[in-house]
Amino acid sequence: MNETNTNSREQLILGIESSCDETAAAIVAGGRRVLSSVVASQIELHRKYGGVVPELASREHLRQIVPVVREAVVQAGVKLNDVDAVAVTRGPGLVGSLLVGVTYGKVLALALGKPLIGVNHLEGHVHAVLLEAHEAGRCLDLPAVCLIVSGGHTIIYHVKSESSTGTARFSYARIGGTRDDAAGEAYDKVARLLALGYPGGPIIDRLAAHGDARAIRFGEPKMSGNRFDFSFSGIKTAVLYHVRRNPQLQPGIEARKEALARGERSADSLRVLCDAETLGLIASFQRSVVDDLVHRTLAAAEQHAARTILVSGGVAANSELRRTFEAEAKRSGLDVYFPSRALSTDNAAMIAAAGYPRFLAGQHEDATLNAEPNLPLA
Ligand code: KG4
Ligand code: ZN
Repeated sequence: MNETNTNSREQLILGIESSCDETAAAIVAGGRRVLSSVVASQIELHRKYGGVVPELASREHLRQIVPVVREAVVQAGVKLNDVDAVAVTRGPGLVGSLLVGVTYGKVLALALGKPLIGVNHLEGHVHAVLLEAHEAGRCLDLPAVCLIVSGGHTIIYHVKSESSTGTARFSYARIGGTRDDAAGEAYDKVARLLALGYPGGPIIDRLAAHGDARAIRFGEPKMSGNRFDFSFSGIKTAVLYHVRRNPQLQPGIEARKEALARGERSADSLRVLCDAETLGLIASFQRSVVDDLVHRTLAAAEQHAARTILVSGGVAANSELRRTFEAEAKRSGLDVYFPSRALSTDNAAMIAAAGYPRFLAGQHEDATLNAEPNLPLA
């Protein structure tokens, strides 16, 4: 038996994630210690389409799932038979993509004679934050408000602890969410409009630092009803109209299209092709999205008397979002937690971590487990 095993009697969960465009597998010990986390990204495959193409995604998951799981087991220094349970994302997500993980997870659990656990992808994002908070020895003060903000989701949940035994079991209530585009989707669409490549979030994050965020004032989305709801389709359209009204931005867009076609997509090579006006537009867009996310989440925390804010999902990797949340939460006397950048975007460590309390509670699935593309968390 190797060192990892002798050192720990913690139970090992193999997590499998395939809900969108990342094929991922991870081994997590005791629900908290990440022994391995392998992610095969499909960004290169979808890049030329400017977004995820579902058919291509499921085919690529089929190609990747076996080697990715094998790699996670090898990197963890364990044997497949040492695994105590298989936890797999059952939804929400793209049905064809989900089916690959669900089917493979089912067959693997059956073949190994180990329990199968079905995990909600959104609960996985919540656990991504908890994983690292625990690892860093930080103790969360619940109830919390959790913002999940990615390419597919922008939702605020109220998170309460369900147990007093120290095993993380939570209940969720939906406070608000986007009525149209997710925030990450807005980043990706604006990046496409301005010829900044795909995915849009990381490049806009880098370029925005060089622009004047006060250059353009985008108004708040006009919405009646729930004040914790979001809308990002308006700002995307506002950027489109701005570009149409300002033809002087066009030569830069053409130059960047050519650079992208040559494979020059780094922030440095695109930045020299952005004039001050374009950088101002990028910075103003980001400022507006970040302010909206932070202010509505803080208002939700206040309304629900939460002391803690959790932020997770691909957009949680955004540096401006992190800085603003940290500054504003401090001012309001709240604690704010983010996952590391690696665990912000889709991964399987968060799925294994979310599966662990279900495993302990005996919430096992049988061979009827199915992909649920619209599975809600609350
Ligand atoms: O969580 P994720 O990997 O997949 C989904 O479940 O959607 O999130 C991907 C999204 C993309 O829209 C991407 O543009 C965005 O997260 N993203 C970012 C950053 N890094 C990734 N958005 C803003 N700033 C970033 N640094
Ligand atoms: Zn996700």
